[in-house]
Amino acid sequence: MTAPRILLVENIHEVAKQKLSEEGFHVDMLSHAPTEDELIQLVANYDVLGIRSKTEITKKVLDNSKHLLTIGCFCIGTNQVDLSVAREKGIPVFNAPHSNTRSVAELVIAEMIALSRQLGDRNTKAHVGEWVKSAVGSKEVRGKTLGIVGYGHIGSQVSVLAESMGLKVVFFDVIKKLPLGNAVAMHSLEELLKVSDFVTLHVPETPETKDMIGAKELAAMKKDAHLINASRGTVVVIPALVEALKSKHIGGCAIDVFPEEPASNKEKFVSPLQGVANVILTPHIGGSTEEAQYAIGIEVAESFRRYLKIGSTSGAVNFPNVDLPVKQGTSRLLNVHRNEPGVLGEINGLISKAGANIEGQYLSTDERIGYLVMDVHSSHAKALAGEIEKLSRSIRTRVVY
Ligand code: NAI
Repeated sequence: MTAPRILLVENIHEVAKQKLSEEGFHVDMLSHAPTEDELIQLVANYDVLGIRSKTEITKKVLDNSKHLLTIGCFCIGTNQVDLSVAREKGIPVFNAPHSNTRSVAELVIAEMIALSRQLGDRNTKAHVGEWVKSAVGSKEVRGKTLGIVGYGHIGSQVSVLAESMGLKVVFFDVIKKLPLGNAVAMHSLEELLKVSDFVTLHVPETPETKDMIGAKELAAMKKDAHLINASRGTVVVIPALVEALKSKHIGGCAIDVFPEEPASNKEKFVSPLQGVANVILTPHIGGSTEEAQYAIGIEVAESFRRYLKIGSTSGAVNFPNVDLPVKQGTSRLLNVHRNEPGVLGEINGLISKAGANIEGQYLSTDERIGYLVMDVHSSHAKALAGEIEKLSRSIRTRVVY
């Protein structure tokens, strides 16, 4: 098999090219996000596509990508790809959901101190010549209570960092989570809001988290407490927050995500929070660091390597996840098929007809497709793959080594 050809678009971090080239793959890079028509021309020459958030992989693109093996989103979101069409064509899609976890956690820590010392407002005033030297309302974060809502990857990182600065940590999560260090789990959101000097939100965007923090929850917070939201813009009811800040019930807030965000740096940003005292507004930069871009490059390149070389789909967002160690002295055959009754029987029929010795077989399915990984004696692999490929319900068959 010739080495897969990989195209990385939208200025993906150079480290991805470096890692994939070291693996013997041919890698080309583009700095822009190709249009649909451009992409259709381009994919004719590539087996693997790496994109970021601006390149749309539509059904039309996929229909014209005869030999596309996999797609990698070098970012968190994957809604720029038609995931179900990709799945039905046997194309796993990977992303990098946790490469920027630490970056978000560090921003939250910085914001706690910034809010406690009113850094945003004092900085703005100093820039226009106003000297506001006063200790009134300025506090250390040491000894205060931080309430973390959503104790997942980011929430738990914030927990560890905050404790090391002397904060007490409480958290609330809908799933039972192991408290790290001395953190204490709360039984309800209300309980957390009542005791926290800082409330930081780290929940996903779901119907349950929509408007999770509204007038009632803000009223339940301690007077002068601070709110931080670097999760998703839908989680906080912004007009209610403005009201709580203006009435001086809430001491300040730091908001990184908004219900409506500009689509690019060229668009104007408008929010009712602009101009309100002790409010830090940032343009969704929680995860935007050079280290995170580097880590994303490594993470998706590694997913490509594992899929192309050993058939691992672990972490794929639209595909049954299979992760098997390499079996020495055998060849590995991959088959994606429509998940209909009797397919496995047909495949096994071909195996016994060929007299092939199966050293290992693993099947993972979802409601639409089945992903079968088989380790067979090398002398049988190619011919068997050819026969399996001919089955009417086979979508894609490949020998990886
Ligand atoms: P995660 O999936 O690791 O953790 C989320 C946690 O929230 C889970 O433990 C889950 O059980 C919990 N949860 C879900 N619904 C809940 C509810 N109703 N009440 C309480 N807990 C609930 O996610 P991760 O990686 O920690 O990300 C958290 C958020 O941060 C996501 O919304 C993500 O989109 C956002 N994010 C923002 C970035 C930025 O640039 N500002 C960058 C990266 C992520």
